[in-house]
Amino acid sequence: MAVVTGASSGIGRASAVAFAQQGADVIVSDINDEGGKEVVAQIEDLGRKALYIHTDVAKRTEVEDLVAASIDWQGHCDLFHSNAGIGMGGAPQAIPVEEWERVLDINLHSHIWTIRKLLPHMLERGSGHLVHTASSAGTLGFAMLIPYCVTKFGVVGLCESLATYVHDRGIGVSVVCPLLVNTNIFDRSWNYPEDGAEAIDETYQEQVRTIFREAGMPPEQVAATIVDAVKANHLYVFPHPELKDMIDAKWADPDEYVRNGAQQWRMQQEAAKALASQ
Ligand SMILES: NC(=O)c1ccc[n+]([C@@H]2O[C@H](COP(=O)([O-])OP(=O)(O)OC[C@H]3O[C@@H](n4cnc5c(N)ncnc54)[C@H](O)[C@@H]3O)[C@@H](O)[C@H]2O)c1
Repeated sequence: MAVVTGASSGIGRASAVAFAQQGADVIVSDINDEGGKEVVAQIEDLGRKALYIHTDVAKRTEVEDLVAASIDWQGHCDLFHSNAGIGMGGAPQAIPVEEWERVLDINLHSHIWTIRKLLPHMLERGSGHLVHTASSAGTLGFAMLIPYCVTKFGVVGLCESLATYVHDRGIGVSVVCPLLVNTNIFDRSWNYPEDGAEAIDETYQEQVRTIFREAGMPPEQVAATIVDAVKANHLYVFPHPELKDMIDAKWADPDEYVRNGAQQWRMQQEAAKALASQ
């Protein structure tokens, strides 16, 4: 059986369905109850059992209750995909502390709360697989996404170290690092521009939204790479293979990476400024 958080939409929804297509019964978890129930029906249509559990992953007790309910459902938990996440960017000095805390809780702390509660069960059984959705933004820093990058680098660090820790004890760990995926993430993304840059920011955000819609990979394709990686017990899941070249290029010359990133950021801001003033 498998559990997926943030399973009402996007990558989580596709992953829940893909695990069911592989023969798993699935616990679908989210705060969007309506979407979650649709996914349950979709999985039941495939002939698998499914259960929806409302869980706000920003709350530690709800995450811990989800893990406990997942083990109780069929007596064991084989795979847990920590996937729920939100977007957040902007000027780090302009982001309220409560917002920093919110994105850290949803995108990073929820992963830690999950493994604290779940690892004893998996270690006792000597089996299980942990899947964590990070992002390309957990491997490359982007000026427009500082808080998001902080959380996703954290998830990548958690997974790489955890994979080594559990390697000889029958447990697999996979961390999913996509570039752009065509999902609803922009309905759940927040941005805090510098004072006075609000109009430029609005234009810029609209441009980014369009790029995601037009160039984003379908979530089902991401889910297929996750299934393959779990079967092969791979740590890194790069649905966009070009990410590896981008990471290699960064490490070949990190200072050049920063110069190029700064130049790109400046050009994007200037283009947005020109558009906003039209
Ligand atoms: N879309 C992309 O381009 C992209 C790229 C890299 C990584 N990711 C990551 O993929 C994951 C899934 O995002 P997506 O793109 O499918 O977006 P999405 O918005 O379509 O799906 C996210 C799901 O998470 C749920 N969610 C949000 N906050 C929650 C909370 N507090 N508790 C429980 N559920 C919550 C939402 O209701 C939604 O169903 C996220 O971790 C995101 O950071 C997305």
